[in-house]
Amino acid sequence: MTQTSANYLHPPEVENQQDLGYTPNILDSIRSSLEQYGDIYRVKAPGRNNYTYVINHPQYVKHVLHTNHRNYLKGMGFDRVELLLGNGLIVSDGEFWKRQRQMIQPAFHRKVITGLTELIIESNSALQKQWQSKLEQGQLINIYQEMSKVTLHIVLTALFSEDLPSLTNHNGKNPFDILTDETERNLLFAQRFRALGKLMMEVVHQRRAENRIPHDFVGMMMSAKDKISGEPMKDKHLLDEIITLIVAGHETTASSLSWIWYLLSQNPQAEAKLHQEIEQQIGGRLPQFSDLEQLKFTQCVIDEALRLYPPVWLIPRKSKEHDQLGGYHIEAGSDIFISPFFLHRDQRWWSQPEAFQPLRFQDGEKALPEKYSYIPFSAGPRRCIGDYFSMVEMKLHLALLIPLFKLKYHEQQPLELEPHINLRSKNPIMMEVISK
Ligand code: HEM
Repeated sequence: MTQTSANYLHPPEVENQQDLGYTPNILDSIRSSLEQYGDIYRVKAPGRNNYTYVINHPQYVKHVLHTNHRNYLKGMGFDRVELLLGNGLIVSDGEFWKRQRQMIQPAFHRKVITGLTELIIESNSALQKQWQSKLEQGQLINIYQEMSKVTLHIVLTALFSEDLPSLTNHNGKNPFDILTDETERNLLFAQRFRALGKLMMEVVHQRRAENRIPHDFVGMMMSAKDKISGEPMKDKHLLDEIITLIVAGHETTASSLSWIWYLLSQNPQAEAKLHQEIEQQIGGRLPQFSDLEQLKFTQCVIDEALRLYPPVWLIPRKSKEHDQLGGYHIEAGSDIFISPFFLHRDQRWWSQPEAFQPLRFQDGEKALPEKYSYIPFSAGPRRCIGDYFSMVEMKLHLALLIPLFKLKYHEQQPLELEPHINLRSKNPIMMEVISK
């Protein structure tokens, strides 16, 4: 702890640290600094003029994401994300973000999500058939790719409904396959994916020409009006939001479901209990939306997987003005790192933090002693807009697949985390499909 002439109190400073960001050993580096310095430290990485503050106390997290959120903009890494997502909801800030969020929020109303039940069931029923044939052929599956395909199909159908077939069939090829076939999220990928924008806007133009507004996410965004100006979204903004919902709406859910399958393969008792609950509540019929509330243990499994492997493992912010955090001075223009991954594995808030224990969530998220120690969907006004959508999607997926299949993990290389924007395994997680 040091005190400057200006009487500001600064948190401990880590010297000689490589640049913080999405670098391969970032998890080890943050872990050891948190162990050494506690809930807040700062780093001035070579080549950067500002400080990065890493914060790891629920009260500090509450301050940045909620109480004083107006002082914090989207931070490090979002310039790269912008190449892919443009100025859609994930990237935008300030008044523009607020207006866009107000226009898009109704599409995520619970009633709308309830209406997606059938689509989610259909997509997972198709997956059931594919897994059945993989099982018969004894083929291993790459679980992330499988989950990515099913969640991508769901979000694309939720966006484009009746127009999806024309979008996904171009000379016998589906141009959206690049999202699931390519794992890199670099500049080349961003250019190739954004090139699909032309196809998506053709659908929008055709709908306008035919005066046709289907009841899907794109339809809802096309008819949304800004509260103040009464104007609809400009085409450029509409496209950015569509692209944002495609990417944000499938990669995180795919990653969560992959971790769930992996964790279940390592915890047969939890898997058996999950199976038993689904059998008891639903039996051999198709699940319905009204069943979901009863799937209490299923909910615990999802919550616990999101605790151990939060897909968004890092929430970066940038301070606009000077601020105070835990008595320390935060300089204007500083980067702030909040990591759900470390908050979720902190033994002050979690007993046996590294263990998979779904029942720790049996009294619900609200019963947690420290609310901001669990933030897989972030918190405050920038909380994930798709949290409920993804919960419904994950529960229905498990309700449909768990009664039929078990997945066995085939370790080909040791499991290693890859902390990009999305927390994934460095090497593919290969699983064998086993019949029940
Ligand atoms: C398990 C699944 C999911 C997880 C863990 C997750 C997590 C998150 C997190 C942590 C943020 C905040 C990021 C930040 O502020 O820096 C976020 C924002 C967002 N998410 Fe999700 N998400 C999931 C599913 C979805 C789905 C299904 C959709 C859409 C269909 C979606 C759309 C968005 C959007 C548009 C934002 C930006 C919201 C705003 O700033 O107004 N997410 N998500």
